[in-house]
Amino acid sequence: MIVVIGSANLDFVTQAPTIPRPGETVMGRDLAMFPGGKGANQAVACAKAGGAETCFIGALGDDAFAQTLHGALQAAGVMDHSIECPSTPTGAAFICVSDAGENAITVAPGANHSLTPERATTALRPLLASGRCRYLLLQAEIPMATNVAVAQMAREAGIRVAFNAAPASHLPSALLECIDVLIVNALELESIAQTLGIAAKDVEAQVQALSTPLVVVTLGATGCLVHDRKLGLQHCPTFSVEVVDTTGAGDAFAGSFVAALNDGATSTDAAQFANAVGALACTALGAQSSTPRLADVRAFLTAQA
Ligand code: RIB
Repeated sequence: MIVVIGSANLDFVTQAPTIPRPGETVMGRDLAMFPGGKGANQAVACAKAGGAETCFIGALGDDAFAQTLHGALQAAGVMDHSIECPSTPTGAAFICVSDAGENAITVAPGANHSLTPERATTALRPLLASGRCRYLLLQAEIPMATNVAVAQMAREAGIRVAFNAAPASHLPSALLECIDVLIVNALELESIAQTLGIAAKDVEAQVQALSTPLVVVTLGATGCLVHDRKLGLQHCPTFSVEVVDTTGAGDAFAGSFVAALNDGATSTDAAQFANAVGALACTALGAQSSTPRLADVRAFLTAQA
């Protein structure tokens, strides 16, 4: 079983010819609403694309947005252990998607910031005690103190900790010490390297300077770089698709990568699987809604072979 602890947001999305620059107004098209939030997106990716038994712990308000988000988790087969925070708005994200498929996202965290260390550890404790949990998957859209507390709790219980360092933020050493699997993009890796005083400038050198057992750097259209302490450094190319919207593609990659590891895949095979999931997630609008089902990923990989 994988436990994902993180954010849940309702995404308000519009498509426009370009993403606005500072001070610019652009005219978008229709407004659409999608379930999102990096934590919930990754939980959906674990279950829907990865076929893994998955639990989600987040913090939502008691409003209509929360109902939509609970429904999406349930529909994807995620066991929802979220905490309800009365009189607190559910998280929301405001997303502009350009005609080239790029996005700009602003998050209003709302209840996500009420996921305190105490609330999260209280929700996690019985799941660890069940003896079924093998991976804990975290991101950086909830308070960092909460990530540290749950990562330490999981590590003490012998559970592997996977961390997707998105959005880029300062990572305390107490968290870095607990991480078994680190999933980053090049900017997030650079920020971690700076924090650790790693002087190397290129991605390959930075990744090799980290002491984390398994590090994956997502590189967009060129795939990902995997540094596995046992297998060394490998570049895994991704698949070419017609891009509609890249929102949530990183979450689809992270969730499905951990789901494949949980299923016993090698880091190389997990990266190839996650590359396929991430690519397919770019072919439709929305985050969770564009995450492919496991059967679709298998059919895609067969067609590409
Ligand atoms: O990674 C994409 C996600 O970032 C969106 O779903 C949005 O809610 C923000 O959390």
